[in-house]
Amino acid sequence: MYRQILLYGATGFSGRIVARAAARRWAGDAKSGFEPVLAGRDASKLNALGRELGLQTRVVALDDPQRLDQILGAQGMFAVINAAGPFAATAVPLAKAALRNERHYVDINGEADVYKQLDDYGYLAERRGITMVCGAGHSATTSDLMLAVALARLARQGITEVGTVRIAFSHVKFTSQGSAQTAWRSIREQTMVVRARTAEAGERPMLELDYEPSGRIERMFDFSARNGAHGPGQSAPPRRIAMLVNLLDLLTARITAMRSHVSVRRIESFIEMPEGARIFVQLGTLSAPLHALPAWRRLVRSQVALLPEGPNAEERRQDRHTVLLEIDDGAGRTLIDCRMETPDPYDFTADCVLGVTEGLARRKLPGWRTPAELFDVMAEDDPAMKRLFADCRFELRKDVTDASQHAAVA
Ligand SMILES: NC(=O)c1ccc[n+]([C@@H]2O[C@H](COP(=O)([O-])OP(=O)(O)OC[C@H]3O[C@@H](n4cnc5c(N)ncnc54)[C@H](OP(=O)(O)O)[C@@H]3O)[C@@H](O)[C@H]2O)c1
Repeated sequence: MYRQILLYGATGFSGRIVARAAARRWAGDAKSGFEPVLAGRDASKLNALGRELGLQTRVVALDDPQRLDQILGAQGMFAVINAAGPFAATAVPLAKAALRNERHYVDINGEADVYKQLDDYGYLAERRGITMVCGAGHSATTSDLMLAVALARLARQGITEVGTVRIAFSHVKFTSQGSAQTAWRSIREQTMVVRARTAEAGERPMLELDYEPSGRIERMFDFSARNGAHGPGQSAPPRRIAMLVNLLDLLTARITAMRSHVSVRRIESFIEMPEGARIFVQLGTLSAPLHALPAWRRLVRSQVALLPEGPNAEERRQDRHTVLLEIDDGAGRTLIDCRMETPDPYDFTADCVLGVTEGLARRKLPGWRTPAELFDVMAEDDPAMKRLFADCRFELRKDVTDASQHAAVA
């Protein structure tokens, strides 16, 4: 019998990309064991997509818990993927319905506030034997997997304490309306960082959220592909400016670090931004109260609605994306510096969320989980990770756990 996966928000820009990927990957492969079922609140759009992809559909609004229970509680239903944003409006009703009906919940949320709201359900999920994964889109899945693998590698080499973990994303050239809404909604007077709390001797410090004024911390990163060291006479790689921002990735990184065998002192997350965008974030300290006003929010929403719905297939093909992970020892020495180049954020989000959902069938991990926990990060050759990163390019630019590099650094 197939495990049915309800894809809610299937008719949105990202939802359609996930729906098409699920149709190819699951419905097109009888051995996959999964059957995607498309869901949303707009019957005409949903039925048109269902007919195009040859998939079943379920029309339901999120203010109708009885209908949600009827759909999610049906025999054969295994999990719900939430691709409907803004998640501030959709995540709680869907997560509660998943809990009531004991079905796994996965979303592609990028809103840090929603993540902090949903993680309160972790204990209930654990008691009910279901897994909840928030942020299974391209950014948190990639950064979380890179961090989990790096920390496991450090721990294997006996390195149990590190200084700062920095995650940095290259500029995304083309965004959807939904992502643009998420980006401006995340501007606050303050920006989150993670810091280790001072601990008693022998105790492992807790990692807690701390805040920096928005726009104050910028840093140069080398986003370029290198293919080896720079020889004499070669110019240094172009380093680009990224700004400390409120990213959900910081929250998944915090959990991954706390669940690892390595003690981390600080975590920061950055996005490369053009100058105009950096000024906008710097003004966040002054303009945050304005963003809270309903009239201002309506005005921004109406302006975002004038943008194209999202990048077309050709724009997406051109827009490869880079994620960097740097870990230092707290005293200025880089321990790990790695770079992952992925396909565009939208197609890769579909690969990530489908990969995470498949992990639910392999790994029984009730409770609040990060995307990386749905993969086997300890395995040298996890087929699920290999499949996810098949079209990616990974560069380990510095790794002190590599004996040859260790000698060079020492
Ligand atoms: N984490 C990541 O890496 C990642 C990647 C891609 C996208 N995202 C996020 O995914 C979200 C969607 O982006 P998008 O580009 O697909 O936006 P979009 O094109 O605006 O689609 C939003 C979808 O959500 C549905 N929706 C909105 N509010 C709803 C509500 N109250 N009840 C039921 N359905 C509702 C819409 O339904 P109607 O059509 O009926 O209005 C539509 O199907 C955004 O928050 C974006 O930030 C995250």
